[in-house]
Amino acid sequence: MQKVLITGSNRGIGLGLVKQALENGDVVFAACRNPEDASELNALATQYSEQLHIIQLDVSDAASIKASADAVKAHTDSLDVLINNAAVNPGAKASQLGDLDMDRITKILHINVTGPLMVTEAYYPLLKSGETPRVVMMSSGMGSISGSTGGSYAYRMSKAAINMEAKSLAVDLKDDGIIVIAMDPGWVQTDMGGPSASITVETSTSGQWNVINGLSVADTGGYRIYDGGHHEW
Ligand SMILES: NC(=O)c1ccc[n+]([C@@H]2O[C@H](COP(=O)([O-])OP(=O)(O)OC[C@H]3O[C@@H](n4cnc5c(N)ncnc54)[C@H](OP(=O)(O)O)[C@@H]3O)[C@@H](O)[C@H]2O)c1
Repeated sequence: MQKVLITGSNRGIGLGLVKQALENGDVVFAACRNPEDASELNALATQYSEQLHIIQLDVSDAASIKASADAVKAHTDSLDVLINNAAVNPGAKASQLGDLDMDRITKILHINVTGPLMVTEAYYPLLKSGETPRVVMMSSGMGSISGSTGGSYAYRMSKAAINMEAKSLAVDLKDDGIIVIAMDPGWVQTDMGGPSASITVETSTSGQWNVINGLSVADTGGYRIYDGGHHEW
């Protein structure tokens, strides 16, 4: 049994990660913006009343991040896995050269980049007391600098930046034994990935859990793929 916290857990990949963690017997802190609207999480809370805690967390709001950490500390004094999964994929106004909107891009970067870093800082004290503590920064193949095919400016920048966060956090947290990786979940059938995506949520999340549960300190600072592979930076 391990204690895990997953942001953006009410739908998509986050919800898939929650379901598999519960099936594995883990204690799950499922963080989401609007717990009252999280119908699937609330149904799971009935089924897994001993294992699942639903926590309010908007990763773009410093007060919400702090309040979430306080709420989790009321249940536990340690955390084994933090998955910074929440993110947004912007529309055209943050993607196409010639039609860029500065406010929109700034908002995307705040949610996708600043948020996960601040969440990690807030949960650092709990992670320090965790068992083989691990932090997953949810990246994307679109975060790869060597693999860029252009366009999608805000999203690509945000995922390249989260890769740098993963690498730098891995350095800074190494002496605490905290393992940090960037994760490419594949192209996944979610609201963000769309119905034509190549893999199901279950394929992505079961692969991700295999990677996460197999991590050792030697793996820190890696850019991993859900299927166990290593991504080109
Ligand atoms: N799907 C893919 O093919 C794919 C590929 C590569 C990487 N990824 C990455 O995988 C992660 C999950 O993607 P997904 O496909 O599951 O996306 P999704 O279906 O669009 O779900 C996004 C999740 O993030 C949450 N979120 C957005 N803004 C938030 C905020 N300010 N605070 C807290 N939560 C917030 C959403 O909550 P609400 O319901 O409240 O909006 C939702 O739970 C993301 O980091 C994404 O970039 C996805």
